[in-house]
Amino acid sequence: MKALIPFVGSAETIKLAEIVKEELEKKNFSVQLSEVIKHKKKGKSKLSRIKSGVTDWKAFDLVVLGFPVIGISSSHLMNDYLKQCVNIKGKKTAIFISCIGLHGNALKKASSIVSFHGGKVKDSIVISSFLGLNEKKQEQAREFIKNL
Ligand SMILES: Cc1cc2nc3c(=O)[nH]c(=O)nc-3n(C[C@H](O)[C@H](O)[C@H](O)COP(=O)(O)O)c2cc1C
Repeated sequence: MKALIPFVGSAETIKLAEIVKEELEKKNFSVQLSEVIKHKKKGKSKLSRIKSGVTDWKAFDLVVLGFPVIGISSSHLMNDYLKQCVNIKGKKTAIFISCIGLHGNALKKASSIVSFHGGKVKDSIVISSFLGLNEKKQEQAREFIKNL
């Protein structure tokens, strides 16, 4: 089985993405980490142009999205990335987000874009990056994947 982890990088999100990858590999997934990076040049569309980040989900059985909370919402880059993805329909999806405490509508926003395109968000987790990603928080992330 194949899993994709598209993530918007921040120090803690990258660490979490690596933990998620490790746990999925323990469940025998072949995992592709895919950092979503914005193109420096703007396109004609209002959406951010994506420089890197796998946008075709066809080959994957599971997609686990990760991003930091920015401005009490999901990162604009993640939202714009999701709007440009194809073959989301029917895809099993999970979401992890990192924040320092106020996540507002971040999960709701990203979940609603996935659902709108026919994806199925099975579970989500908010991990506080306040004071760093200690053992307890890392274990929370591992349990999240184990129970997926
Ligand atoms: C511009 C900016 C806005 C942010 N807004 C929020 C926010 O509204 N709520 C929150 O809990 N964390 C917020 N954060 C904190 C990030 O979510 C946090 O940086 C992220 O969880 C990753 O941690 P790291 O920067 O240590 O890698 C913000 C960070 C930045 C840089």
